[in-house]
Amino acid sequence: MRPLETFIEQRKERFVRNSLMSDEFLDFVNKNMKPIEKQMSYYQCAIMEVETKFKVLNEQYSLEYDRNPIEDIKSMESLIKKIRKKDIPLTLSSIEENIHDIAGVRVICSFLDDIYMLADCLLSQDDITLLEKKDYIKNPKPGGYRSLHLIVSVPIFLQDGKRNMTVEVQLRTIAMDFWASLEHKLRYKKDIPADKAKYLEDEMLACAQISADLDMRMQNVRDVIAENTTPDERPLLLKELS
Ligand code: GTP
Ligand code: MG
Repeated sequence: MRPLETFIEQRKERFVRNSLMSDEFLDFVNKNMKPIEKQMSYYQCAIMEVETKFKVLNEQYSLEYDRNPIEDIKSMESLIKKIRKKDIPLTLSSIEENIHDIAGVRVICSFLDDIYMLADCLLSQDDITLLEKKDYIKNPKPGGYRSLHLIVSVPIFLQDGKRNMTVEVQLRTIAMDFWASLEHKLRYKKDIPADKAKYLEDEMLACAQISADLDMRMQNVRDVIAENTTPDERPLLLKELS
């Protein structure tokens, strides 16, 4: 190591020892992080409540119709990135006020109809309150993103009473999820040259359209099988959505 690097290294270590490991700093972390950790565990509980609701619906549907509407359930919890992105103060009340999608449950279905069926079932439960609904299936985002988002309030029951927690539920088909995961990866890729970026943007938009068409056709195929109707008897779901 060169002398300058050694010097910097030593200074860094001294800084860490003196400031980051000082009693004051540890006190600060304890005082500020404990309530946030507690709040995060409440969000985790709310995720469990919502996940269970979907698992119950899936179970019941499979008993009744011999088919599982849900392919996969994923839970998401992303506080740090959101705080950074929104640049809000690091206090509990500002977090609760500003960020509604700390706790997220993503439900992946095979068919479009299942998305709306599951959303209706969830929203009709008497402990669930709908705070906001964003239908990016009927109105996709300009980049092509599709999913049904429900921001709901769900109670969790603690030792000392009930707390209402906000959870973002994202319902999507396998095709929507396939598209969104690739787009998410692209979004975090840095240093894409301008000509490539334009191509990727156009291509992703085209893929979004193809995946929307695929969802529609798969839904029709399923309906034709289920109802034993001829293809012409079933009006294209496309009409309802566009
Ligand atoms: P946030 O600031 O993250 O809340 O984004 P937003 O307000 O523009 O979108 P919205 O609240 O409707 O959706 C929030 C979540 O949906 C995100 O955290 C993602 O998981 C997902 N999402 C929304 N838009 C996109 C998109 O264009 N691409 C992908 N891959 N995911 C998206
Ligand atoms: Mg948002």
